[in-house]
Amino acid sequence: GNPVDYQAENATITGGVAESNHAGFTGTGFVNYDNATGSAVEFSVDAAAAGPANVVLRFANGTTVNRPMDITVNGTEVASAVAFGGTGNWDTWQTVTVPVTLTAGTNKIKATATTANGGPNVDKITV
Ligand code: GCU
Repeated sequence: GNPVDYQAENATITGGVAESNHAGFTGTGFVNYDNATGSAVEFSVDAAAAGPANVVLRFANGTTVNRPMDITVNGTEVASAVAFGGTGNWDTWQTVTVPVTLTAGTNKIKATATTANGGPNVDKITV
């Protein structure tokens, strides 16, 4: 189907806070992950039918240090330590695409930081 946006600030945040103090976000803000391993955002994504999809995650990382995250779908890891490198500053957003397989109905897509720096700032995913 057509791509749908799922805003991070409306998702389930485990170790992080919704903020809007950097420019360029969509929706009403973004999630500032806690600077801690295991900080996470979980999105509920509806799929009309089972099958492959691309998860396009929009992020900013104003540091020069990679902020890797594991991606799980319905509890199963589908991508390990995906790189979210520096974007130059916290107002500059880039996307990373992760191919996944969805089930029909609601899918839980979770991005979990794997280092003590936590995740990047996350604006949204588009699926
Ligand atoms: C700064 C920045 C935050 C960011 C944080 C971090 O505080 O303003 O938006 O999340 O650095 O390093 O994670």
